[in-house]
Amino acid sequence: MRRLGYLLVLAALAPAQEDPSAGLPEQVGALFAHKCSQCHGADVVRPKGRFGYVEDLARVAETYVKPGDVEDSLLWWHLTGEQELMPPKKAKNGPLALDELALVRWWILDGAKAPQAAPRTAASDADEGSSLAARSHVLLVHFPIALIVAALLAEVLFMWRRSAGICATGRFCIVLAALSALLTAFTGWSAGEAWSPARVDIHRWLAVAALITSVLAALISPLASRQGGPVRHAYRLLLVAAAVLVMLAAHQGGMLVHGEGYFTL
Ligand code: HEC
Repeated sequence: MRRLGYLLVLAALAPAQEDPSAGLPEQVGALFAHKCSQCHGADVVRPKGRFGYVEDLARVAETYVKPGDVEDSLLWWHLTGEQELMPPKKAKNGPLALDELALVRWWILDGAKAPQAAPRTAASDADEGSSLAARSHVLLVHFPIALIVAALLAEVLFMWRRSAGICATGRFCIVLAALSALLTAFTGWSAGEAWSPARVDIHRWLAVAALITSVLAALISPLASRQGGPVRHAYRLLLVAAAVLVMLAAHQGGMLVHGEGYFTL
């Protein structure tokens, strides 16, 4: 009899809104968070009835609800049953009021949908993209710096001891440096979109100059080691330029990230 009484009241409470399902999952989620998480919340160490995910509507629906069918939904029986009525009378935030029960009922009838994640906007995509780019940029940037300097060092050593091994090592370093500089510049360019041009421009163009000189050095390095002479001089010039430029660019980048005066002796 008591259940019949509920149902009659629920029928009388049928929603008069145009779209009764609008925001239903959000409302049910908020209701459960308020009335049930004391015993079934994710942060409860020993959730009652081993049911500890009441805020996760998708999972609640999967386990306790047959969408569209109130009578066949375990959840409904727990909320309206004669025994073990949920929430229990002693619950901190009290039992469910009738209109709250009606809300859950509409939610089940409407397919027991989970709240939709906030719609993605182009802006949030750009934010995320640029922060990922920014993080990988800060990681990648170490490679061209170290490798350009290593290539320059190898060339200095080569001038001193004309060993083919040192020459090959230098070429290996500058080719890797150019490749990593390409990746670094790519991530850095997208990360820089989040900054005002006035602040990033110096860093950006110094870095592009370092990229161009290191790529050129990598490109002529096979020829330089075979022919020597003027090509080798050009190669050395490019290496020195790339090393100076990458240092200046890195210093500007450091000031962007850590603030001016991060590097004082
Ligand atoms: C004061 C604590 C408390 C609150 C608040 C509470 N419950 Fe419970 N719930 C229990 C206890 C205790 C059990 C275990 C009953 C049993 O196993 O006999 C249980 C069991 C359940 C179960 C069955 C779990 C299973 O798989 O066996 C469901 C479903 C449930 N509750 C839903 C709810 C919902 C929905 C709410 C909020 C509207 C709620 N409960 C609020 C204490 C609570």
